[in-house]
Amino acid sequence: MGRLCWRRRALAAACLGAVLLLLWPVPRALLPESENSALGSSWLHGKKKSPLQMLYDLNKGPLSALAEVHRQRRDLLQRACSRHTRRQRLLQPEDLQHVLVDDTHGLLYCYVPKVACTNWKRVLLALNGSVRGDPRSIPAHEVHAPGRLPSLADFSPAEINRRLRAYLAFLFVREPFERLASAYSNKFVRPYSAAFQQRYGTRIVRRLRPRPHPEALARGHDVRFAEFLAYLLDPRTRRDEPFNEHWERAHALCHPCRLRYDIVGKFETLAEDATFVLGFVGLPGLRFPAPPPRKAATTHDQAARLFQDISPFYQRRLFDLYRMDFLLFNYSTPSYLRLH
Ligand SMILES: *[C@@H]1O[C@H](CO)[C@@H](O)[C@H](O)[C@H]1NC(C)=O
Ligand SMILES: *[C@@H]1O[C@H](CO)[C@@H](O)[C@H](O)[C@H]1NC(C)=O
Repeated sequence: MGRLCWRRRALAAACLGAVLLLLWPVPRALLPESENSALGSSWLHGKKKSPLQMLYDLNKGPLSALAEVHRQRRDLLQRACSRHTRRQRLLQPEDLQHVLVDDTHGLLYCYVPKVACTNWKRVLLALNGSVRGDPRSIPAHEVHAPGRLPSLADFSPAEINRRLRAYLAFLFVREPFERLASAYSNKFVRPYSAAFQQRYGTRIVRRLRPRPHPEALARGHDVRFAEFLAYLLDPRTRRDEPFNEHWERAHALCHPCRLRYDIVGKFETLAEDATFVLGFVGLPGLRFPAPPPRKAATTHDQAARLFQDISPFYQRRLFDLYRMDFLLFNYSTPSYLRLH
């Protein structure tokens, strides 16, 4: 009995924490300057303006073309959120695992896999001073090692709220089906993703093939795109556990209608959006690692090619699944889909 009671109280405390979380997604960038700088200076010892303060100052003056694009994206996200989201469950600290924290510079970055997140994590590690020199020199496996970077989920609700109010929050998104096509080719097609094929490929083969070949059953190495999509659309998949982060919807990882993001970066304009974000950090030497040169339109073509063999019925259901990411981040319906 005593134990149950304690549990109830713990639950009530957790709910209270969540209520607090919900109260704060105020339009922080629009806070009066006095409040903003008071928040900002507490950890920068008043020596430097916080990135959030700098963004606020920027938005007061005439906007550069780039700053105007970002203001419009922010507005569009807000409008899309109020139009398309209904009452949602309360956020808990563990929902914020993808929001990485830089306490020294006052940044929150929500990482979405397949959207340059390795390079963003490298930049955060460089900002934290744990690497000298070029962020590109940090090996990818080290970048993704758990616990290398603190996340908002590690803090108490009060500590989370303080950071949500005072820090500049940003995320990077990508055209949802190009991201999905990229996740599929990266995890199921290339020979070096044996771990994913072992974990998810074998599961897909077991579930979806009537008479699976023993080798496919053991290795999960030859999953077709259509099978991968059928797995995503199978209601059992999300009943068993959340989607893997590589194909989970960006809005489900970052909660952009619950947390206020100050900057919405896009993979399609990665270099200039990254420079825009880093401009608020105020470290002139710090550059976003340039991505390897790619042929123009490759990821669009890759998605178009993969989807051409998918029936309109499946295309429609998949579009419904990723619909919020299309709407919130202003991506238009791909022209190669046959939805009607
Ligand atoms: C949304 O997308 C349309 C079509 O690509 C574009 O013309 C418009 O400028 C975008 N709006 C914002 C706020 O990004
Ligand atoms: C790096 O991160 C740790 C833990 O988050 C923090 O205590 C430390 O001050 C950071 N160092 C710098 C130089 O930002």
